[in-house]
Amino acid sequence: MEVRIAATTDLPSGKMIGSENSGKEILLANLNGKYYAIGDICTHAGCKLSEGTLNGEKVRCPCHGSTFDIRTGKVLRGPAENPEPSFNLRIEGDQIFVSL
Ligand code: FES
Repeated sequence: MEVRIAATTDLPSGKMIGSENSGKEILLANLNGKYYAIGDICTHAGCKLSEGTLNGEKVRCPCHGSTFDIRTGKVLRGPAENPEPSFNLRIEGDQIFVSL
């Protein structure tokens, strides 16, 4: 299933936003003009990554500092051990769609 998640104008380069779609919490980020989406709920203890910080490709959880790669969902630094799911995106005009 594919749903519209945001407009490209909502998300300047270097920014991220969290959104909820069909029961899934998704973190969407713009990294140098490319868009990426991973799960927004930290796999450590459930904090929202969208309330953390984005530094290049690294998104840092506000609670205990786990760091994930926004491009893949991979854990770069614990305490989290499990990766975030990664979602495919499609851009059409200025609209961003995510495959759930
Ligand atoms: S909940 Fe994210 S690091 Fe603990």
